[in-house]
Amino acid sequence: MRKRAFSGIQPSGGIHLGNYLGALKNWVALQAGYECLYCIVDLHAITVKQEREVLRQNILATAMLCLACGIDPEKSILFVQSDVHEHSELAWILNCHATMGELRRMTQYKDKAKRLEGAAAEGGASVGLFSYPVLMASDILLYGAHAVPVGEDQKQHLELCRDLARRFNGMYGEIFVIPEPVIPENGARIMGLDDPVQKMSKSASSEYNYVNLMDEPSLILKKFKAAATDSGKEIRYNEKEKPGVSNLMNILSVTTGESFRVMEKRYDGKGYAQFKTDVAEAVIEKLKPIQREYRVWESHPEEVVRMLQEGAEKAREISRETLRRVKEKVGLGGAP
Ligand code: TYM
Repeated sequence: MRKRAFSGIQPSGGIHLGNYLGALKNWVALQAGYECLYCIVDLHAITVKQEREVLRQNILATAMLCLACGIDPEKSILFVQSDVHEHSELAWILNCHATMGELRRMTQYKDKAKRLEGAAAEGGASVGLFSYPVLMASDILLYGAHAVPVGEDQKQHLELCRDLARRFNGMYGEIFVIPEPVIPENGARIMGLDDPVQKMSKSASSEYNYVNLMDEPSLILKKFKAAATDSGKEIRYNEKEKPGVSNLMNILSVTTGESFRVMEKRYDGKGYAQFKTDVAEAVIEKLKPIQREYRVWESHPEEVVRMLQEGAEKAREISRETLRRVKEKVGLGGAP
């Protein structure tokens, strides 16, 4: 039997270039060797406030974008997390095996909670946000996934997932597969265009922080032209001294496959302006077929909905069995 891969993405309004280069590109690649399950994690999305109609639209749009990027429903199971209630149920059981201390150490929680504490209207961080990584562990462990393609920011969550799986297996016997993160060598941490010391993020205050996969070419060009660069003139890779240029080099390298060394030679004596335009053009070219595919899916929403329902059905078949075994081992349920 083929090994499984699992990953998820939040339906938070589009997919940005960081999501694509850090994770989705690998989602597509893994389809060649793994039985893949890819999940639109709407339960994770509601750990922060959402508008009902916007969330609904974002779920469908995110699914369409996954398909447009190359997730093939003939090869992979694409589904929406809340359509498979086993995720929440296993999350509760795992919550009872995770400690407050280990969750408090999660840097993403600390960052997001700090931001929310500052925003009085939000009323502070939710309990769901605190136990977010446990729900993530449940997503992965339900399917016995061996490989989890993610960007670098998910590494700590994956480590927690592995700890929980080992703990559980130690207490109740071998139930869970210990998953391995699949993090690309380049592209695992794409930085914000306007602030290259922070990762590219949809929740950034300016839209000049990120490139959305569906951005118009003219907007992409504008965003790259406005990208922060560093003092000096040369195009040289050095994350510490030249974070802005290094981020753009990274984007160009992952997009075209050109090495930093070749790039440095090619841009010797040339300024930032030409370089930025070239990066923008390479990204525009890369996104063209994805944008074209998206428009096709967009005109067949009912087909996407049907596909997601079929995906959920297949996911349920696998997750139901895992949950049954977990409940039996823990001693839950009325039936012996
Ligand atoms: P999310 O929706 O924030 O991001 C989706 C994927 O994109 C990667 N990513 C990045 N990669 C490179 N550079 C960046 N700037 C960048 N920003 C985001 C993320 O690492 C991620 O792989 N918690 C997850 C979703 C999730 C999940 C799971 C993932 C839920 N359950 C189970 C794997 C397995 C998240 O919020 O991703």
